[in-house]
Amino acid sequence: MKIFLDTANIEQIKQMCELGIVDGVTTNPTLVAKEKGKFNNLSELISTICDIVKGPVSVEAISDDAEGIVSEAEKFSKISKYIVVKVPMTKEGLKAVKILSGKNIKTNITLIFSANQALLAAKAGADYVSPFIGRLDDISHEGMQIIADIHEIFSNYAFNTEIIVASIRHPLHVVEAAKIGAGVATIPFDVLDKMFRHPLTDMGIEKFKADFEKVKEEYKI
Ligand code: G3P
Repeated sequence: MKIFLDTANIEQIKQMCELGIVDGVTTNPTLVAKEKGKFNNLSELISTICDIVKGPVSVEAISDDAEGIVSEAEKFSKISKYIVVKVPMTKEGLKAVKILSGKNIKTNITLIFSANQALLAAKAGADYVSPFIGRLDDISHEGMQIIADIHEIFSNYAFNTEIIVASIRHPLHVVEAAKIGAGVATIPFDVLDKMFRHPLTDMGIEKFKADFEKVKEEYKI
C-alpha cells in the first residue's frame, strides 16, 4: 500500500519523507489555508512540497464549472510533473476529468461518499478516487464498507483508477484499508506518527539498555 501524507505543512512533510515511507502528499483548501503567511502564493507552497516528495502531490481546484476546473488544472500542472489535480465529485467535475485525461493531466476525484460515485469517477477516467471514510463514520455510516465495495467493483472491471482512502482518523483505519487492499492511504501526520509506536517497543529498548549497562565495561568495543 502506498502511503500519502495528508497535509500541506512543510515541516511535517520533510520529517516523514526523511524516513523513506512517504509516496505522495494530498492537500485540500482547508489544509493549504492552515499554511497561510508562510509562502508568497499557492504555487510556491505546492512547488516546495513537490520538490521534497518527488511523488504525486494533489492540489484542489475550487471552480464549480468544468471550464474553470480545467483552466485551474492547466495552471497547476505547470508547477511540477508530480501534480495531481483534485476535482470535486460533481457532474461538472467529471466533465473536467474527461477533458483533463485527454490532456494527460492526472486527476483525483474528491469528496466521494458512495461506491456509485467512485464507479462514475472511474468511468470518467480519474486516476484516483478519494472516499472520505472518517466523515462517513462521523454520521454513523461505516466508512470502511465503501472502501471494500469500491475495491471489489474496480477489481471486477479492471479499472486502473486507484483508491486513496481519505479522511483517516486513527491507525486502525490504516490497518483495515490495507487488509482490504486499497492502493493508497492518505494519512494525517499525527495518525502516521502514532503508527510507529508500541509501548512494548519502548519498554524493550529500556530493558536492553539497562541490562547492557551492567556489563558495558566488560564488553567495551
Ligand atoms: O484528504 C481529505 C481529508 O483531508 C479529509 O479529512 O479529517 O477533514 O475529514 P477530514
